[in-house]
Parts: sequence; structure tokens; C-alpha cells
Amino acid sequence: MNYSDIKKIKKQFQGRDLLSISDLTKEEVVLLFEVAELLKGMQKEGKPHPLLEGKTIALLFEKPSTRTRVSFEVGTYQLGAYPLFLSYQDLQLGRGETIADTARTLERYVDAIMGRVFKQETLEELAQYANIPVINGLSDREHPCQALGDFFTLWEKGKMHKESKFVFLGDGNNVCASLALLSTKLGVPFTHISPPGYELPLKIQESARREAEENAISFSITHNPEEGIKDADVIYTDVWVSMGQEEEREKRKRDFLPYQLNSSLLSLAKSNVVVMHCLPARRGEEITDEVMDGPHSIIFDQAENRLHIQKAILALLV
Ligand code: CP
Repeated sequence: MNYSDIKKIKKQFQGRDLLSISDLTKEEVVLLFEVAELLKGMQKEGKPHPLLEGKTIALLFEKPSTRTRVSFEVGTYQLGAYPLFLSYQDLQLGRGETIADTARTLERYVDAIMGRVFKQETLEELAQYANIPVINGLSDREHPCQALGDFFTLWEKGKMHKESKFVFLGDGNNVCASLALLSTKLGVPFTHISPPGYELPLKIQESARREAEENAISFSITHNPEEGIKDADVIYTDVWVSMGQEEEREKRKRDFLPYQLNSSLLSLAKSNVVVMHCLPARRGEEITDEVMDGPHSIIFDQAENRLHIQKAILALLV
């Protein structure tokens, strides 16, 4: 892939929304990885790549963020466009203006909207009423930019193939949902380990199982951490209490305690296993310091790759 290829590939993507992993085919995901790899190399070599010169990207946040906000702001700037940060509280949305009217207004000013929202329906309504690309920067259902950055990281490290066992240890939350959909789409066997009652939503399970069948790989769910982690090539974990679940903190801490990723559990995986976490982490809860800072951790490579994959997404969609 070279820089001039991006223009040709763009025809297939331009103007589309990215609300879910289901919006992309396997071939399109691989194209995104190739563009991300190219842009990452150019950025590291100090070569400018102003693919979105003169454009403006609205970055709408209903919830706090470090990685999503900073990587989208920096990535937009590196592509030559202007990142317009919009906090929900500072907009008329916070005083009752409808999502539809906000979408119809924003599309007159900006070239795309990235939204971090409480409800997936907010993104769907923005996409319905704004005739510009809408990108999911985390909702209650999915976190597709996170999963794409994570699998781009595994692709770089040669861990994205049929013999690589991907294990998600923790809550069947939005991150887990996007990872399950993407892993099975890309033909990587997926295991979800959680306490009873914290499984993925049934619709996600059905979609992931269907993709797994098509790709002749396994999709499994277990409540037994020792059994699930055995022979893992990739172990991914996430916080036990997501944003908005603070009232459940004490119960969740009790339920998830046997599911902590520590050295003892890690020792059951393959010797070259990699450890992933979308961050922010609660050190000492879902993951111990020794694992997070240990030789298997690729957690900060993941964090960096949010920047590169989102630049590829913007460069192709906008
Ligand atoms: N992983 C992730 O989305 O991080 P932030 O909440 O800091 O954006």
C-alpha cells in the first residue's frame, strides 16, 4: 500500500458511518489496518499526510475520556483537519435540544461527528439526521474504535490468525462485545470468561457465533477462569465497574475477585502470551501491577494504536 492508494480505497468508505463492528467486512478491516500501518510509518518518519486538509471533525463527549479524546484530537490535527471538542454539558443538548436538531445543525458546519455517548440510539439518531459520517467513540453497546486498534496491534505482532486463542477475562461489556464481533469476523478463536450473570448480550453472542461458524473457528463462554485461560495466546481484561455502574461497585468487586488477572492465572497461558487492557485500569482489581508492567504486557502499544487506526478511519470515511 502507498500513500496514493488511499484515494482509491476511500471511494469504498467515504460518507459511511462506523457505529458497530458489524458495519465493516473482514476485507474492509484489513484495508483499515493497511492504511493505519502506512500512516503510522509516515508519522514516525515525520512525513506530513494532510489527507483531510480544511475539514473539521466534531468530537462530542457525554462521558469523560483520556485516550479517545486525545487520540482523536491529535489524529485529526495530524491529518490537517480541525478537531472541534464539544462537551455535552456545554451544548444546548444539555438543555433539551433534540439530537435530531443538533445533528441537522452540526452537518452544516462540520465534516464528521465522533461521539462518545451513553446510548447507542444517540449515535443512530445522529447518523439518521446528519448527512455526514458518524463514528462511535464508545456507547453502552460497543467500542469499535477500541477493538479495531486492538486487533491492529495483534495484526502487527503476528497474533491475528486461526491458531491464536483470544481470551477476554471480565464483564461482557461494550469493549468485550466489539472484540467478540471483530475476533470472530477476522477468524480468531474467541473465549469469554466471566462470573455467571456477566455474559455478553444474547444478540452479540448470536452474531459472534454465526461469524465463528462461517470462519470455522470456536466461540466459547465459560465461568471457569483456569479452564478458559489455558493455552491462551492473548488475554484481554477490563475494569469490573464501567462508567455509570458505580452503585454496583461492591457487588461487582466480590463477583469478579476470582477473575483477577495475576501471575498465577497468567502462568496457565502459553509462554509467549500477550496481555491487553483497553485502559483506564484499576490496578490491584482486574489486573495486578506485576502483570500490567510485566514482559507480556502490550497495553501501551494498544493505547498508541488508537491514534493510528482512528486516523485511518477518518482518512477513509471523511
Ligand atoms: N479506552 C478508552 O476508550 O479510554 P478513554 O475512556 O480514556 O477514552
